Amino acid sequence: MPGKPGRVVVTGGAGFIGSHVADAFLADGATVLVIDDLSTGLEANVPAAAELQRVDIVDARQLREALDGFNPDVVCHLAAQASVTVSVERPEHDLEVNVRGTLIVCEAARAAGAPVVFASTGGAIYGNDAPLPTPESFPPAPLAPYGASKLAGEAYVATWGRLHGLPNVVLRLGNVYGPRQQPHGEAGVVAIFSNRLARGEQLVVYGFGEPTRDYVHVSDVARAFATAASAGRSGTFNVGTARETSVLELLEILQREAGTGVQPELMPLRPGELERSALDPSATERELGWRAEIAVEQGLPETFREFVPSA
Ligand SMILES: NC(=O)c1ccc[n+]([C@@H]2O[C@H](COP(=O)([O-])OP(=O)(O)OC[C@H]3O[C@@H](n4cnc5c(N)ncnc54)[C@H](O)[C@@H]3O)[C@@H](O)[C@H]2O)c1
Repeated sequence: MPGKPGRVVVTGGAGFIGSHVADAFLADGATVLVIDDLSTGLEANVPAAAELQRVDIVDARQLREALDGFNPDVVCHLAAQASVTVSVERPEHDLEVNVRGTLIVCEAARAAGAPVVFASTGGAIYGNDAPLPTPESFPPAPLAPYGASKLAGEAYVATWGRLHGLPNVVLRLGNVYGPRQQPHGEAGVVAIFSNRLARGEQLVVYGFGEPTRDYVHVSDVARAFATAASAGRSGTFNVGTARETSVLELLEILQREAGTGVQPELMPLRPGELERSALDPSATERELGWRAEIAVEQGLPETFREFVPSA
């Protein structure tokens, strides 16, 4: 690189964020290959202009063949076991996909001569003692296997960059929300709440509604991948807004849009869940020229209307 990549692999491109990343590169004129095993992703999410190969990233031979045949300029790696709760229940599965799978992606990308842009997490990596908003320099202290596996994945991505002279990039994403989100992920709360409000159903709010997250719109996140892939430089960057929004504040914005006044059931935090989170994106702006453009006041009502077109 640097410069806009013409041929882009998106692992996890049938998922929520990956499908928007594929859209962003296609809009820039790139040719896109999606690698996905459709374990949580949907074929319908894959943009029509992209090719889909149904491959499990843990299958090193198949992945290598897919990448060699495509000859990518960059590999955006988003395929993952993306649920904190599942990682607590099935830590070995989480490790297999998120650590071993990431190593296999790094090695296949290296063999194809392509750098990796990796979807890590800011929300699940810094822990409860971090200053807010948290800079990338704060030492990670994950609270759940998911954060540990993402941190290990980061280490392989950065090490492969140094070892093989590739401008590999780690993006630590905040809680991503927007169209096509499924209700099982880290920030599935927006999808869950929107669907329940539309049906007038009861809502459960964990942590008594007080935990905060840095909600970042998926189109801003997709642009961060496109920006990082063209930068030709390595590094670890937060992709967030620096702003905390509590679950109750989020629910209030959605209820205003839905025209509802549902009283949520308040429950304690689940194991491995963080109390507060906001990411400091100033290095990302300074070094990559990226900043979030969509505030929650705009993005949440828009997302609600996407989920509930008749509302
Ligand atoms: N959603 C968030 O708020 C958030 C926050 C931080 C980081 N991330 C990361 O961003 C990425 C995308 O998350 P998402 O929310 O879009 O989740 P998602 O579950 O919608 O997408 C993950 C995709 O990976 C695919 N996949 C899973 N295991 C695979 C395997 N072994 N081989 C091939 N494909 C496989 C799934 O089928 C799915 O399409 C993940 O790496 C996740 O950890 C997400």
